Amino acid sequence: GKGTYPFYMLKEIDEQPSVMRKLITKYVNEDGSMNVDPEIVKAVQDADRIYIIAAGTSYNAGYASKRTLEALTDTPVELGVASEWGYDMPLLSEKPFFIYLSQSGETADSRQVLVKTNERKIPSLTVTNVPGSTLSREATYTMLLHAGPEIAVASTKAYTGQIAALTFLAKAVGEANNKSEAFDFDLVKELSIAAQSIEATLSEKELIEEKVNEVIADSRNAFYIGRAEDYYVAMEASLKLKEVSYIQCEGFAAGELKHGTIALIEEGTPVIALISNNPKVSAHTRGNIMEVAARGANVLTVVEESMAKEDDDIIVTEVHPYLAPIAMVIPTQLIAYYASIARGLDVDKPRNLAKAVTVE
Ligand code: M6R
Repeated sequence: GKGTYPFYMLKEIDEQPSVMRKLITKYVNEDGSMNVDPEIVKAVQDADRIYIIAAGTSYNAGYASKRTLEALTDTPVELGVASEWGYDMPLLSEKPFFIYLSQSGETADSRQVLVKTNERKIPSLTVTNVPGSTLSREATYTMLLHAGPEIAVASTKAYTGQIAALTFLAKAVGEANNKSEAFDFDLVKELSIAAQSIEATLSEKELIEEKVNEVIADSRNAFYIGRAEDYYVAMEASLKLKEVSYIQCEGFAAGELKHGTIALIEEGTPVIALISNNPKVSAHTRGNIMEVAARGANVLTVVEESMAKEDDDIIVTEVHPYLAPIAMVIPTQLIAYYASIARGLDVDKPRNLAKAVTVE
């Protein structure tokens, strides 16, 4: 049950530090080595390209994991929207490996692609929260999220769980390839730090609720902007805000805004800017903030500690760059939650939506 919580979504947001710690116990052996099925590791090693197929939040989690997977496995990662690839499979590489990301393991759009890759005998891995689910049974391999049941329609702990699970896989493959970067990346330590960062953000609920009421709750539309990994988080953040608050929201690559969409910015339009610790892009995102502010936007900043300036609104304590999406998404989950609360909506059961989409 949801205990003392008004909604499952808030309970599930709060569970994320313990999901991160649980994943450590599941995917790390006592001697610190990675506890990932060696057959999965081998299958990834043998591939010349990783294809991640997913929908909605799971799709966004795939993007958020792309950089780490590529960096540690030295294998290019391509993302596919399940509902598109079911019809039109693009030209594949010679030795593809497919990862199906799905909280429920029942998403029909993803299954449609899996049926096709199975016909072609392409090895596959389902990363899911539900053991025995359809996608898990039909793929070659399974990795579990161990996040506990996710009841709220809006997915939260599955997103961070998926990124963490794929990070374990990436490190395991990197180590199998004798890559020093993989050995140097102390995932147990870094994921523990990420769990603490999540806890620090969770202790800022009042501040976040206040900002939401001030800047977002009464708006018809809003934007999330960010660059690099922050852009991927912006996509997820905007999906979350849309589905539980019904505020029209777009997640945008901050630099792309000026190529057209900035025309939509008017007096009071909320723009939430995400800036994690990536010195290559943060100054540019700051520039984009000034551009929208000059056109009247009501800017809210979510900034990782080392990048923070005096006027920033929500500060996220520092994590390893590979885990930045896990830390940066937490304030945006709370923003969506409090926007829904402010509007008096049924947070857990948004209109028109089902938890598992079992039709194509
Ligand atoms: O169970 P899945 O992860 O396959 O579900 C995919 C999407 O339907 C799901 O993430 C959906 O977008 C959520 N409502 C997002 O919060």
